[in-house]
Amino acid sequence: MKLEKSDILKALETITVAGEGKNMVESGAVKNIITFGDEVIVDLVLTTPALHIRKRAEVDIMKVIHEKVYEKAKIKVNIKVEAPTAQPEKNEIKGKQIPGISNIIAVASGKGGVGKSTVTSNLAVTLAKMGFKVGVLDADIYGPSIPIMFDVERERPLSVKEDGKSKMKPVENYGVKVLSIGFFTQPNQAVVWRGPMAAKALNQMIFDAAWGELDFMLIDLPPGTGDIHLSIMQSLPITGAVVVSTPQNVALADARKGVAMFQQDSINVPVLGVVENMAYFTPAELPDNKYYIFGKEGAKYLAEDLDIPFLGEIPLVQSIREAGDVGRPAALQVATPIEQAFEELTRNVVQEVVNRNDNLPPTEAIKITTMAGCSAVKK
Ligand SMILES: Nc1ncnc2c1ncn2[C@@H]1O[C@H](COP(=O)(O)OP(=O)(O)O)[C@@H](O)[C@H]1O
Ligand SMILES: [Mg+2]
Repeated sequence: MKLEKSDILKALETITVAGEGKNMVESGAVKNIITFGDEVIVDLVLTTPALHIRKRAEVDIMKVIHEKVYEKAKIKVNIKVEAPTAQPEKNEIKGKQIPGISNIIAVASGKGGVGKSTVTSNLAVTLAKMGFKVGVLDADIYGPSIPIMFDVERERPLSVKEDGKSKMKPVENYGVKVLSIGFFTQPNQAVVWRGPMAAKALNQMIFDAAWGELDFMLIDLPPGTGDIHLSIMQSLPITGAVVVSTPQNVALADARKGVAMFQQDSINVPVLGVVENMAYFTPAELPDNKYYIFGKEGAKYLAEDLDIPFLGEIPLVQSIREAGDVGRPAALQVATPIEQAFEELTRNVVQEVVNRNDNLPPTEAIKITTMAGCSAVKK
């Protein structure tokens, strides 16, 4: 059986890659087709970093060639990811990176109260202990809790001059720089911000702040998957997302939505993995006993099911809660199982960031929004 290139091209014209608009031949994604006998090699260049889109493209190619050209064809698909070269939209500067900030990690959860801020703060202090330069940006407009967890809730960022411009200087504790939306709102004030406004405030806290050099900026996102998230994701070049869930079904269902949100075409933020928080309870007096209060390994199964990395499990421990309340993250308690659990989690996160940066281009497209009209951060 000799396969014809032209037949294969015709078959590939029926496939449209998500986010590319035109079919893959027309869009120029198909760079080369080689055939010999019943073998086909297709070289594809895609502009999307999302793994699931690449996988889908591969599966689709195999399917149409088998269906439309030759059912026994032996097919190999090589996919390369390149940053898009299309003209950026008017108010968009493609690939703009934030000077000095190497990696931005969004910490998200579908559901509130699952330990997003606890995981964020403990990740941050553990990264700092490992010698990384770390900042935390608390974007949870519904319940900013990072100032309490870092014992800085009475502090306010000072204004400093940098390159002739006034910038806010993040407050610092435990070697971590912190800015929070909570610094700019009254405690107990109901914050009913819409997405674009929250995104503007966050833009300011990133671009008009003197962060200095950072290896990692962690963003504690609001819970849920609403349009606030859309605005934030579309306005910042997020390296990857960490999704926190408890093993409980209701939390897992929401975590699944969270993952889907990052993977949707208009957002396309790589998901670094899932963290299982409150994985089990161990009473201090029975250190060998584990009680699976919220169910067992639910987040692990979710990760397997969605084909994303499982980053680690954090037990439900009273001292984690207490540490959060007094403003000294539990991972700072040296030589404890809690410190160990957070170290393992942090190592896995760093590993996934390294993998991501080796395999995918930077998350692109940062929209420049006007900074006007955001009274909350004008002080
Ligand atoms: N692993 C844990 N063990 C004990 N308490 C925890 C743990 N994770 C979170 N908590 C507590 O649960 C509450 C909610 O956690 P938080 O991090 O504020 O959740 P979120 O940011 O997702 O709303 C807090 O009181 C926190 O101290
Ligand atoms: Mg929180």
